[in-house]
Amino acid sequence: MKLSSYMPSSELIETYRSAGQGHVFDYFDQLSESDQQQLLSQAGEIDLEEMAALKRDLIDGDAAASVDLTDLEPAPYEARPENGGDEAAWTDAEKLGEQAIRDGRVAAFTVAGGQGTRLGFNGPKGTFLITPVRNASLFQVFAEKIAATGKRYDATIPWLIMTSHQNHEATESFFSANNYFGLSKSQVRFFRQGRMPAVDLAGKILLSSRSSIAMSPDGHGGSLRALDRSGALAQLEQEGIDTISYFQVDNPLVRCIDPAFIGWHLRGRSEMSSKMVPKAYAGEKVGHFCVQRDRAIVVEYSDLPAAVQEETDPATGELRFIAGSIAIHVLDRNFVKRLAWAGSEAALPFHLARKKIPAVDAQGNAVNPTEPNGIKFEMFVFDALPFAKNPIVIETRRENDFSPVKNAEGVDSPATCQVDLLRQYTRWANAEGASLTTDENGLPEFSYEVCPSFGYDEASFATSWAATSDSPPITAGAILT
Ligand code: UTP
Repeated sequence: MKLSSYMPSSELIETYRSAGQGHVFDYFDQLSESDQQQLLSQAGEIDLEEMAALKRDLIDGDAAASVDLTDLEPAPYEARPENGGDEAAWTDAEKLGEQAIRDGRVAAFTVAGGQGTRLGFNGPKGTFLITPVRNASLFQVFAEKIAATGKRYDATIPWLIMTSHQNHEATESFFSANNYFGLSKSQVRFFRQGRMPAVDLAGKILLSSRSSIAMSPDGHGGSLRALDRSGALAQLEQEGIDTISYFQVDNPLVRCIDPAFIGWHLRGRSEMSSKMVPKAYAGEKVGHFCVQRDRAIVVEYSDLPAAVQEETDPATGELRFIAGSIAIHVLDRNFVKRLAWAGSEAALPFHLARKKIPAVDAQGNAVNPTEPNGIKFEMFVFDALPFAKNPIVIETRRENDFSPVKNAEGVDSPATCQVDLLRQYTRWANAEGASLTTDENGLPEFSYEVCPSFGYDEASFATSWAATSDSPPITAGAILT
């Protein structure tokens, strides 16, 4: 049950006391009236019964032990044609997807409500500058890909962007200051995701200041509820859009709208489809697509014992659980609505993460912890898979779809992502006969950039290349546009 912020303050405070969370109001009498109102309104947003259940199940109970690994099988997937997949079916899927885009049935959807703590960048992650020559931001790259796809198929593709309470205004201002990167204002739709209170390691709600509860976004799984609550789904319905192409804000290689993927989803009458990459090695830290008693699920690497991750298929010698999740999905609009309206029987579970959470100590002083001091609760979007009818997983090539910016340095960092972008441009260019010299890693001798307006995938690049009378010069610092 959610409490109401309209409840008389004494009653609300008493409910918190009875739930063992009365400390939230320890400083209440010392606050100004407006600060008191802020605290009461935040407190009214929280479902104390849900918090008690999370404490019981995830903190006091053993969360890891509750992950059910019985009857687990690797999920089947549609292999790429070069890996033995059905070439005619891929061609057919691509045509079907192209037609759906032309018919205006497809929207792009970016989840951008994360806190990006590992990157340590001050601002919405989508505003991070990533491309090698122009220094275009992640948001700009996606906007240009969506615009170019719309142009290619003569369609207007709405772009939904989920923000958080923390970064909503900054995200909107960034787009407005940049004139929506050439898209129309009505095409780009922002909405906030839900939030959850953080608790200490014993399950007590944390205060970020004497007048405010430490709230954090409720995970990318919160996107399904938020799509509905924000009215975004209803608007899509009015526009006749039934297919939502979901991707994360940190992955500029992604094909925001991939015709073949959309086609596989539609021809399979799937409610939720996913892309997989074959894992690079047994212990790679990705989720695993599995089937458990006829339901598709993703099992996180941390929940799958190493021995299972290392199992190989005796016939091929390949890893058995080879299908790694890269957080790219296609969602059916009615499926999202069904889940959002289903209530507890189809509610996505919360997962807990132990984190360093700035909070006030017992004396009411703000502290920046150096060790994890609290717990955040998040839902994950892939937990929707078991509820989906006809889920489909298709293979993609990692270099065509996935190079996330997660960390400030090292693996999955801006540096590795820029290298992957450059390698991708060079693959497209050399496939068209550009004859760029590359090293053993597929990297050219200099840096340059291909704008999405010139090419956002192999096919669109090939079209632009063929349309230029002389092959465009690719030299150090060149920008193909
Ligand atoms: P991550 O799991 O990488 O989390 O999000 P993060 O918050 O961005 O980064 P860290 O863990 O703090 O370093 C994967 C994707 O899901 C979105 C992110 O914006 C990113 O696109 N996300 C994550 C949300 O939209 N909301 C959330 O509550 C969490």
